[in-house]
Amino acid sequence: MTRVFDRNKSNGMSIASKVLGVVLTLFVFVCQANGTRVYEKQSPPRELTEDQATRAEKNYQKYCSLCHGANREGYANDHAPSLRSKSLFESGVPHSILRPMSYGRQGTAMAGYLEDVGGPLTLDETWDLTYWLFWQSGAERVKLSENPVPGDVQKGEEIYQQNCASCHGKEGQGINAPALGNQSALTHNKDEFIRYAIEKGRDGTPMQSFADKLSVQDIDDLTAFIRSRSNGWEMEKPMLSAIPGPEKYVLNPDSEDPDFELTDDIYVSSEDLFKAIKANKKMILLDTRVPSVWQRGHIEGAIPFPYYTDLDDKIKDLPKDVYLVGYCSCPRAATEYIFRKLRARGYEKSAVLYEGIFGWMNMGYPVTRAEGQFDDPDIAGH
Ligand code: HEC
Ligand code: HEC
Repeated sequence: MTRVFDRNKSNGMSIASKVLGVVLTLFVFVCQANGTRVYEKQSPPRELTEDQATRAEKNYQKYCSLCHGANREGYANDHAPSLRSKSLFESGVPHSILRPMSYGRQGTAMAGYLEDVGGPLTLDETWDLTYWLFWQSGAERVKLSENPVPGDVQKGEEIYQQNCASCHGKEGQGINAPALGNQSALTHNKDEFIRYAIEKGRDGTPMQSFADKLSVQDIDDLTAFIRSRSNGWEMEKPMLSAIPGPEKYVLNPDSEDPDFELTDDIYVSSEDLFKAIKANKKMILLDTRVPSVWQRGHIEGAIPFPYYTDLDDKIKDLPKDVYLVGYCSCPRAATEYIFRKLRARGYEKSAVLYEGIFGWMNMGYPVTRAEGQFDDPDIAGH
């Protein structure tokens, strides 16, 4: 596994916190010896007002109960999973609940419900429904990092075929359980979320806990194996091992500009962007989310340009005469925030992807992943 970031420049870690880190690592190591990991708790999300809760419950019954069941028990239709198992809500709130709800899972019965991708729910309603489901479950959230889980992919595959294929399919296609090789699931979900599901199981469902059957190392190997299928079960595409440098910023430098028609003078649709990419137009694609989620899945050719970037420093490498297209997942607020600043600095040829990357995926457009190591445990997906 390659390390991508040179963090030395920004690493201001004190000796004391390093020592503390070592102590904590030892502690975690000791606790791992019997097969279960100890997870730190995370504070609960906001509570809903009575009005919000009533509306969320109505939305649930109207839009979700058909497949996920009147009591969130799952399996009413299409093998839809349980939406009340504690282990799911411990590890999945908000993103692993909010994202599939909002954008769906490609190739499964789970559609996207956010209005930006043609669904009936507003952004506020998707958040409220996520939190309503959480409060109904009675779970306590645990803290999961964005870091990749390192493991032996080949060993993971052997363990998978022995223990998991009967339900999840030899090729991860899902038989009577979710498809684990599903690209939109893998792009939404953190490695530690996957690992948590294997370790804890999903209470009240056929997914048992494997903490007693498999070692901590086995579970890491399985997680790494599942992650390695992000670009397709059959074939691993060659992966980027580093963040692209400025010489890689401009796509198709010898081609001409895209001729986007922007909505509200700033938004480009996924359809138009995809056409421009296929027509090999000259552009720079900026992924304005935190780089860890860029690793998990991004539009091919996009470079990480986090919304919290030091703009004045970073724009030194950014030509003004090339069309800039930015995207995030919220679905566009973070990009718009930074693109308004770029425009103020003279980057007039610039557009924000209207549906965001998950809207893009929901419409069937491709993403790719990169492989690398992240050291910062606190970076949160945006
Ligand atoms: C037509 C059936 C159907 C409807 C209606 C439906 N879902 Fe789903 N949902 C599914 C299926 C099937 C999956 C599993 C997909 C897979 O194999 O990955 C799923 C997966 C999910 C997941 C991921 C859970 C996990 O364990 O990772 C969430 C969260 C979810 N649905 C929420 C909702 C919400 C909220 C609604 C209503 C707004 C809804 N779904 C409506 C069929 C449905
Ligand atoms: C007896 C059938 C069965 C076996 C065997 C099984 N699973 Fe599952 N698994 C399920 C079901 C069913 C679910 C969905 C549970 C729910 O409703 O949340 C699931 C959920 C999961 C999830 C969460 C998926 C998501 O989208 O949220 C992961 C990850 C997973 N299983 C991995 C594994 C691995 C790895 C193994 C082997 C070590 C394994 N499973 C063995 C049935 C099985």
